[in-house]
Amino acid sequence: MSLASAAVSPLPAPLSGTPLLQAESLTVRFEAPDGPFDVVRDVSFAVRPGRTFCLVGESGCGKSMTARALLGLVPEPGRLAGGRILFQGDDLATLPEKSMERVRGRDIGMIFQEPMTSLNPVIRVGDQVAEPLIRHLRLSRKAALAEAAELFRQVGIPAPEMRLRDYPHQLSGGMRQRVMIAMALACKPRLLLADEPTTALDVTIQGQILALLGDLARERGMGLLLITHDLGVVAEMADEVGVMYAGRIVERAPVRELFGEPLHPYTRGLIRSAPTLDTPPSARLDAIPGTVPPPDKLPQGCPFRPRCPDAHARCAEEPPAFILESPGGARESRCWLAETR
Ligand SMILES: Nc1ncnc2c1ncn2[C@@H]1O[C@H](COP(=O)(O)OP(=O)(O)O)[C@@H](O)[C@H]1O
Ligand code: SF4
Ligand SMILES: [Mg+2]
Repeated sequence: MSLASAAVSPLPAPLSGTPLLQAESLTVRFEAPDGPFDVVRDVSFAVRPGRTFCLVGESGCGKSMTARALLGLVPEPGRLAGGRILFQGDDLATLPEKSMERVRGRDIGMIFQEPMTSLNPVIRVGDQVAEPLIRHLRLSRKAALAEAAELFRQVGIPAPEMRLRDYPHQLSGGMRQRVMIAMALACKPRLLLADEPTTALDVTIQGQILALLGDLARERGMGLLLITHDLGVVAEMADEVGVMYAGRIVERAPVRELFGEPLHPYTRGLIRSAPTLDTPPSARLDAIPGTVPPPDKLPQGCPFRPRCPDAHARCAEEPPAFILESPGGARESRCWLAETR
């Protein structure tokens, strides 16, 4: 049976359950002297309670900008030029900044590697974790510190009461990242955004921290939007996956389907070039040739065409608008090949 349908789905249909957050057709645009260009284009996905949605793709594909757009943190001279962000009955795209400040850190927790949310070197970590509890939940300092100790315990920081008094430099990288997670979780957010939260850590710690995030999401019924360039992380963590290329989601699928039968040539290339446990260290991986095009210099037609082993005449003419849907609409692929399946 052909699963192909010519309809362009405006919304990803639910995997199961009502989504916590629904991003619809997000577009992030930058103004430049030569004219505007889009770094995120028509991106739609949903994050469900207790589930993990992974955004994956090479560096420069627009993953971080998508997360920033969700939080109203697109840097100038960029802006959210289109789309809706449905969260708890609101469209975050239209909320005033004052309300967004409440959403960030209280309803939506975030863990980034960037200085924006990294720890303050001159404030004790206990006070840093207590701060959002005092500000957003109006706890007393004493109650907030007690809660901070409890959070430290939950994220696996040994001797939590003693660690509260430490400054960031007194902690290892893994412990600092746990403090960041504790901070992000302090106000019991419904949704956690984690942008490459473990990239700087060694593999063992990385595994522990990711497992912790997955457990917390399931236990608390929290949605997790996890951004990574690492397919190993995706395989380990994701329920659903959006593969991003040149600012677009080019394939979206439940994790098993994505690895079992990747539809988009970019996804297939990523999987071929990812090391697995069985890959001998000496093996040469089948890397995708070429690089991600900059958003202001996209090739005509399909943006992946210059690197695509399956490119054909039509791919140069028009970008694939075609979306393949499985019954229930959980899968889509932006590729002309999908039409002939
Ligand atoms: N402040 C900015 N001004 C203009 N372009 C930017 C800015 N920040 C990021 N970009 C561009 O947006 C694209 C997507 O970046 P990003 O979202 O950081 O990618 P990823 O997180 O997938 O590595 C890249 O081409 C990047 O160069
Ligand atoms: S549309 Fe063409 S160039 Fe683009 S991914 Fe599909 S086959 Fe490759
Ligand atoms: Mg990034």
